[in-house]
Amino acid sequence: MRAFVEIVGADHVLTDADLTASYETDWTGRFSGKAACVVRPRTTAEVAAVLKHCHAEGLKVVVQGGNTGLVGGGVPAGGEVLLSLARLTDLGDVDLASAQVTAGAGVTLADLQIHARASDLDFGVDLAARESATVGGLVATNAGGIRVLRYGSMRAQVMGLEAVLADGSVISRMAGLSKDGTGYDLAGLIAGSEGTLAVVTAARLKLWPRLRARAVALLAMDSTEAAVSLLPGLRASLPSLSAAELFYREGLALVRKHGPLPAPFPQEHEAYLLLECADLTDPVDQLAAAVSEAVGLVDATVATDAAGQRALWAYRETHTESISAEGVPVKLDVSVPTASLPLLVSQLSSTIAGVCPAARPIVFGHVNEGNLHVNVLDTGDLHEQVTDAVLRLVASLDGSISSEHGVGRAKVEWLQLSRSATEIAAMQAVKRALDPAGILNPGVLLP
Ligand code: MLT
Ligand code: ZN
Repeated sequence: MRAFVEIVGADHVLTDADLTASYETDWTGRFSGKAACVVRPRTTAEVAAVLKHCHAEGLKVVVQGGNTGLVGGGVPAGGEVLLSLARLTDLGDVDLASAQVTAGAGVTLADLQIHARASDLDFGVDLAARESATVGGLVATNAGGIRVLRYGSMRAQVMGLEAVLADGSVISRMAGLSKDGTGYDLAGLIAGSEGTLAVVTAARLKLWPRLRARAVALLAMDSTEAAVSLLPGLRASLPSLSAAELFYREGLALVRKHGPLPAPFPQEHEAYLLLECADLTDPVDQLAAAVSEAVGLVDATVATDAAGQRALWAYRETHTESISAEGVPVKLDVSVPTASLPLLVSQLSSTIAGVCPAARPIVFGHVNEGNLHVNVLDTGDLHEQVTDAVLRLVASLDGSISSEHGVGRAKVEWLQLSRSATEIAAMQAVKRALDPAGILNPGVLLP
């Protein structure tokens, strides 16, 4: 402990239970464990010194950003040093020539967005936890969110990375070269490695032109199939399409139970598709035209002003907190080939009811990526069985057991449903090469 105090100062080594508690339980309340202590470095050099010490002493480390993760990957199992990167908040000037910026691991997504927009640029990833989620965690989990349709996931935004390896050595490749053919893409490998290969301390990030003109529509439909069938036409007629989000009758009822939201339509419907277009000039006419031509709609509304757009987004973005207000859900984040999404949705209820008749599934997601957030309430002590049944169904449809939240501690047991034995062995070989003592995030991602 004295070594940590010497590196980061006494104020930033926390051992008092009152101070460590908020770091030791995840956002969902499902995962928690006691840390040996919480260490809060301010700089990359301090992170390196902390890891060098942990490596020498054989101390296990769990790495944490904004603690918004949903799979238990950022909280201790018990006894690890918790390395919080929340104080690595340096944010460089926007480089207009390359449209890039360097951001510390502890910079929140919201602060990054504000910073980029001040230069008339924007960041490509956006998600509901933007006020708390941080750059380091977004990179480490290869976060997705609501704009993958337009800009890709977090890995696609990373033009360079600074990271500390398990032994305290630093790799830094921050020139932001768009073309670089000099071998292994270490930044791409570390992105999505969930803190198991290295500790991300800063990232060089791509920025996009800021698109101030937005239009949002909410479409009501009878089925998932109707929503999926609309996608090819929407993508073809709306180059400005930047989000396509799906939710259902049960989810809408829940968000209206927990928030003061009016009914969007006079009648209830089975499925809802939220579309957003963003462009340099007002895309509302394009969006309205695409909606009026869409086949299979039963109702629709288009919001033109910012307040109306926020109101429509609230139906979608308050799902997570409304579900948590009902209890601790089993949270599954799966994807299937988009064409198979209707099949997945049609088999989901009976699959879950087959192992847990009392369970209450609430489902929503990012339709273009075939990414469904399957949240199951009231599972009692059958959460393992529910998880197993759903993930096996997903695997039978050639899907992924974790689409954008990561594997964490929650899904390790099921990794083999999505990755072959050969792939897992290759990943373990990479892990052994970079972290031979296995001190970084043990128990996360790899069996
Ligand atoms: C979302 O899309 O809102 C997030 O992935 C959070 C969640 O799944 O609860
Ligand atoms: Zn999501």
